[in-house]
Amino acid sequence: MSDNTPSQPSDPTSDMLWGFWYPALRSDQLRGGKLERAMLLEVPLVLGRDAAGKPFALRDVCPHRAFPLSFGRFDGASVECAYHGWQFDAHTGQCRHIPSLTSDSKLKCDRIYAGSFPCEERDGYVWVFMANPEGRNFTSAGTSAGIAPNAAPSAPPAPELPTFSAGYQISHLWADLPCSVDHGIIGLMDPAHGPFVHQAWWWRSRRSIRDKAKQFEPIPNGFRMSPHAPSSNSAPYKLLKLITGEPATTTIDFVLPNQRFEQIRAGKYWLSSRTTVTPMRRDLCRLDFVAAWNILPWFPVVSFIIHVLGPRFIRQDTEVIEKQALGLKYEDRMMLVDDADRQARWYFELKAAHLESQRTGAPMRHPVSGPITLRWRS
Ligand code: FES
Ligand SMILES: [Fe+2]
Repeated sequence: MSDNTPSQPSDPTSDMLWGFWYPALRSDQLRGGKLERAMLLEVPLVLGRDAAGKPFALRDVCPHRAFPLSFGRFDGASVECAYHGWQFDAHTGQCRHIPSLTSDSKLKCDRIYAGSFPCEERDGYVWVFMANPEGRNFTSAGTSAGIAPNAAPSAPPAPELPTFSAGYQISHLWADLPCSVDHGIIGLMDPAHGPFVHQAWWWRSRRSIRDKAKQFEPIPNGFRMSPHAPSSNSAPYKLLKLITGEPATTTIDFVLPNQRFEQIRAGKYWLSSRTTVTPMRRDLCRLDFVAAWNILPWFPVVSFIIHVLGPRFIRQDTEVIEKQALGLKYEDRMMLVDDADRQARWYFELKAAHLESQRTGAPMRHPVSGPITLRWRS
């Protein structure tokens, strides 16, 4: 298909991607010995911290009779189901105790597992590795529910926000987005909505629309907008140059399944941010934004941008997604038009290539072939 033809992506648009880490909760939501619920890729989870503070994640469904484990008790090592008191190791999900068994019972309760998921804490988030819907103790071939060998592959290292000096400040913002993960993500990487959705005298207006040309290159599992001088029509970047006295460069990466990284470097000063759009359900995502920076901590201009302007931006994006949802009830096809929508097209192609490589076991065929310049107006 010609690149100039408006088109629907031909690929499964609402598929959620398995085999990746997703942020389930912010670290500060998980305190003491309390159990917390979360939902990732339509899988209900119960999370907590063991006595040493290390987080864990179990499928929030008791293998006995599906009672949510999150209603139960936690003693720092095992989660006890509130229905019949079965106890499960918090990290492995292995059943430790079944109160109803008599002392001469032959039943091997240690062969019973609640679904458990690799769980790590990074950058103020509790990340969960979602290999499959059941958790790591289950084969995809479907052993009888609850009784299963250890069968899942080990998880890769959890994602980490790049930082570039020992001291820095860090901040988190978030919002729920009532949309599929695909609309959330292509909204995130969409360069054409800025002048219409994020209008403000200090940022940019419709009148400031101008021609843009940005160079892109493939990176593993994603693509990069190569280092470039930030948009000259946005005031905060002008301000940044004014205070640091250094020309700034920006690098923006998108990496499957859902991460957008942006780095701004100006001499020894840096700002590094990551935005993720995480599917909780098919129709509900959460946007998480984390930023770390070392730019003039004594002059809180970045802090102001993050804490005052950041929430405003996120609110504008959330409102757009809420309104878009009204139309998507009647029409879920979309047009991807020219270079302004090329990154969205790449996202669908990356996703399809990933699913294909998962299906065949062959290495992923990268849809972006080499350095390429995209042109649009925004
Ligand atoms: S349902 Fe959980 S112990 Fe019976
Ligand atoms: Fe936006």
